[in-house]
Amino acid sequence: MKKAFHILIVDDEADMRDSLRDLLNNEGYQVSEAANGILALQKIRENSIDLIISDILMPEMDGLTLLKKVKETDSDAAVILITGYSSIQGAIEAIKFGAEDYFTKPFNVIEIKKTVERIYNSRNLIRKNEMFKQEILRKEFPGIIGRSEAIHNVLEHIKNVADSNVSVLITGESGVGKELVAQAIHKSSLRNKEPFIPINCAAVPKDLLESEFFGHEKGSFSGAINRKYGIFEIAHKGTLFLDEIGEMPFELQAKLLRTVETKQLRRIGGSEIIEVDIRILCSTNRDLKQDISDKKFREDLYFRLATYTILVPPLRERRNDIPLLINNFLKKKGILDLKINENLINLMMSYDWPGNVRELENVLERLLIISKGKMIELKHLPQEILETPENNDSGFTEKAANRIKSLEEIEKEHIMKTFNRCEGNKVKTAQVLGIGLKTLYRKLEKYQKEN
Ligand SMILES: Nc1ncnc2c1ncn2[C@@H]1O[C@H](COP(=O)(O)OP(=O)(O)OP(=O)(O)O)[C@@H](O)[C@H]1O
Ligand SMILES: [Mg+2]
Repeated sequence: MKKAFHILIVDDEADMRDSLRDLLNNEGYQVSEAANGILALQKIRENSIDLIISDILMPEMDGLTLLKKVKETDSDAAVILITGYSSIQGAIEAIKFGAEDYFTKPFNVIEIKKTVERIYNSRNLIRKNEMFKQEILRKEFPGIIGRSEAIHNVLEHIKNVADSNVSVLITGESGVGKELVAQAIHKSSLRNKEPFIPINCAAVPKDLLESEFFGHEKGSFSGAINRKYGIFEIAHKGTLFLDEIGEMPFELQAKLLRTVETKQLRRIGGSEIIEVDIRILCSTNRDLKQDISDKKFREDLYFRLATYTILVPPLRERRNDIPLLINNFLKKKGILDLKINENLINLMMSYDWPGNVRELENVLERLLIISKGKMIELKHLPQEILETPENNDSGFTEKAANRIKSLEEIEKEHIMKTFNRCEGNKVKTAQVLGIGLKTLYRKLEKYQKEN
């Protein structure tokens, strides 16, 4: 049986390639060849290569340049360079740039076998360790899918905080899985037999939030027909997840802080002091530090809640997880035998997913409907994914050219967005944008004329 270890031999001389290939093939490795550095880079991009053995002296692209280029890709292939006696200096340089080792010509067969075996063994060990670690993490947090470094970090953070009672602020763009992380913290904490109570601070009308949080006594205000228990009481002994904490009205923040600090509360209209034992997790996709300087969020509350913060990275920073997420989604739907065009997965991996995992799930949901259970084809994809600039092989197709915006357009969009965000306040807009007030006036006037 072949070893799961893929070696790429790069040399412009066919004889050299042949003899190395035969040697390594006999040792059971999987071997590919490339006649120059450019072809090699292409192979590295298309295959998962574990080791590159490359000549230093080659026309077009020399071995050192190839080495540097490999280190710039996300391939983690080890590199061995082959040098003639005269370029031993080059070999020393190679080690400096991250080559694993070098061979001198003429070859010493035993030395080659040994060196390759050493790299094979150490890579195998790392891989086994990695798999073992991931297996453990996956078992512990079954809901969170992903093997990327980015997700791995998040899982490590969850592990760090799970056992303690510390408040955790989970940040990240919309749809990245913040709530999933909160659930995972709860599930792996000592409170996991007690309730996990999520509340979305943006979804409850402002005037009802106080009662939602702290409860009220019968007759405490018109409409308070019965006693109501707030979520602090309901989540007693468990975990309270305050989703979109940035939307919490400023007036209520002081009261929340008091309860969080003293672990005591009083229902609206009540006199009894109620003790609660709560762990608090919260999430936001806003920049709370900005909200603090804008006096929309209390700094003391922030520090109390964000004792530990976990940033869940956007999907575009962990594209390698996309195939897994797709599989997982299909599995959740009970679909096991659906065929997906491989190119389509590639397209999905190069799209930026502004709506993150939630957007991915929505697109898949739509694809399932459109493809009617048959093979999912490229034509089923939504336009925005097909039109991702990198997704046009020919580079500058007409469509892509039409889509690419001029700098001026982007500037206009950015200025108008900021202007709206600053609620039409020109002084503030100019400050935020770092431009003079006069310049802003001039630009706004121009846009007005254009419209
Ligand atoms: N790593 C992941 N593995 C599996 N499913 C995921 C992952 N991340 C997110 N999801 C799924 O994506 C959807 C959105 O996740 P979630 O609601 O946790 O995001 P969010 O960050 O809280 O979003 P919002 O900011 O809009 O509240 C959910 O259906 C969730 O199950
Ligand atoms: Mg959420």
